Amino acid sequence: MRIAITGVSGFVGRALVASFAARGDDVTRVVRSYGAIPPDERTVIWQPTQGSIERAGLEAQDVVIHLAGESLAGVWTRAKKQRIRDSRELGTALLARTLAGLRQPPRVLISASGMNFYGSRAEAVDETAAAGTGFLADVVKLWEGATLPARNAGIRVLHMRFGNVLHPDGGLLALLVPLCRLGLGAPFGNGRQPWPWIARAEIAPAILHLLEHTAISGPVNIVAPDAETNQEFKGALAAAAGRRSYLRVPSFAARLAPGGMADELLLGGAPVVPRVLLESGYRFQWPSLRPALDAML
Ligand SMILES: NC(=O)c1ccc[n+]([C@@H]2O[C@H](COP(=O)([O-])OP(=O)(O)OC[C@H]3O[C@@H](n4cnc5c(N)ncnc54)[C@H](OP(=O)(O)O)[C@@H]3O)[C@@H](O)[C@H]2O)c1
Repeated sequence: MRIAITGVSGFVGRALVASFAARGDDVTRVVRSYGAIPPDERTVIWQPTQGSIERAGLEAQDVVIHLAGESLAGVWTRAKKQRIRDSRELGTALLARTLAGLRQPPRVLISASGMNFYGSRAEAVDETAAAGTGFLADVVKLWEGATLPARNAGIRVLHMRFGNVLHPDGGLLALLVPLCRLGLGAPFGNGRQPWPWIARAEIAPAILHLLEHTAISGPVNIVAPDAETNQEFKGALAAAAGRRSYLRVPSFAARLAPGGMADELLLGGAPVVPRVLLESGYRFQWPSLRPALDAML
């Protein structure tokens, strides 16, 4: 299979490139600069917010996986929030327009998205739920909406609404595991907010399942079926890391981070159900948090 992937230098991209390359797939890397990646004839350079992309390298791909976007980590200044929004809306629109105009477009565009679509709410949500409110919910709507040119061109478009992707190599665990090992893995606020998660190793098999099930399109929640609250998550992590925490990070302390980041990423969330994956018969390799963490750590 010929696959082009954006955001390959990132936490999820690195793992997907390794998984598909190990299967013998022909992987084209779509990057903003060569950086640490040695150039080869299958590398495509693009500037997502400036509208430039080497389109010839995207011809005749079977699948395009789009992961690129400004990291959500860090201080949410106005400029950072603009980069978070623009990198996703403009970059996705550029990619979708380009794919739509190819002589041999891919059959499928699989674009990253986030559970933040649902905002913060107490009731369980599946892919049929309406969007929530907040900065990230608005970004996700723009991000998913920007794939429209690809959909209009007859390309099957999937939006992977990821929960917190877990692997000690990066993301949330790279931040929390060292804190946990110091006994500082305290829950945020009252700890009752849902923290949907997915093992990073689950993403490639879930994508292969979605590729096989050609009737599926639109949003797909990429979260494990066993939903956890922040407190349960931190408890399982502390147990797996071998160090319990009896502390709690009060909401006001978490909110010292400017720009609303704490409310959206740490103190909020929704119990997200992976209905599309379950109803289409996907069997999770890592359905439960504690065994997944034990294997990873
Ligand atoms: N990790 C999670 O827990 C999680 C949860 C929900 C959603 N997601 C979404 O899934 C996608 C992949 O996640 P990830 O954890 O792999 O992200 P990541 O480690 O931050 O990597 C994202 C990649 O996007 C590119 N990039 C960075 N800044 C950019 C900018 N300003 N404009 C355009 N491209 C930029 C970079 O690739 P190049 O330098 O190679 O171009 C970078 O390696 C992201 O869109 C993320 O929002 C992730």
